[in-house]
Amino acid sequence: MPGASIEIEKLLRRHETNDAAETVTALAGVTLSIAGGEAIAIVGVSGSGKSSLLNAIGAMDQPTSGSVVVDGTDITRLGRSERSMFRRRIGYVFQQFHLLASLGALENVAAPLVPYTRARTARARARQCLADVGLATRERALPGQLSGGQQQRVAIARAIVTDPVLLLADEPTGNLDAFTGHAILELLLGLREARSTTLVLVTHDPAVASCCDRVIHLHEGRIAAAPPA
Ligand SMILES: Nc1ncnc2c1ncn2[C@@H]1O[C@H](COP(=O)(O)OP(=O)(O)OP(=O)(O)O)[C@@H](O)[C@H]1O
Ligand SMILES: [Mg+2]
Repeated sequence: MPGASIEIEKLLRRHETNDAAETVTALAGVTLSIAGGEAIAIVGVSGSGKSSLLNAIGAMDQPTSGSVVVDGTDITRLGRSERSMFRRRIGYVFQQFHLLASLGALENVAAPLVPYTRARTARARARQCLADVGLATRERALPGQLSGGQQQRVAIARAIVTDPVLLLADEPTGNLDAFTGHAILELLLGLREARSTTLVLVTHDPAVASCCDRVIHLHEGRIAAAPPA
């Protein structure tokens, strides 16, 4: 299945704090088109709205106004159950790998399939995805027995096990040394190449960003022109 196309229009996200005395604007009107199969990097200083944008694209957060149209559907207008259906078509990778500490690598990868798939099928698919990220021999290892880079590989295998049309990654290399981070990036780019998945990657690292098809710079919740090199 080809990767999802995304049309974001005038996306605004405000947060009311405590007594509503203060409003924080995380996204101040973002308009952006992402083609199916594109690998796009989102960069910007801390607090510029990168995670907010990613969370809106992944229907993990409801924007204040504006629209996010994924393959023709405005996901900001979906009801609760439709939103969770939509999320099942997306793979998420985070800076903190968010693996389940008491489950082995294979069980972690299979976890998203368990509610919807026969156990045997889930295990077979998880096994394939673990092999795809180069961890075929570590199926039973607990997260605590794996290195940071290996844990992130498990997290990526878990993100692709549902065959997503869209991969969202928030600082996936942020907790890793430069060498391991680069290997993880190559893995993500290779997977999107093989599956023509759309990839939206948040990063602080210009070297990581430059490996993507396009780089979007956020500044104070808006898309900015590229900063001077
Ligand atoms: N739940 C929330 N309540 C209040 N303010 C929030 C909330 N979530 C985000 N913000 C604010 O919105 C702005 C954008 O936050 P966001 O997490 O998108 O930034 P970021 O670019 O991902 O930063 P970082 O690089 O540090 O992860 C920040 O000023 C942040 O404090
Ligand atoms: Mg962030």
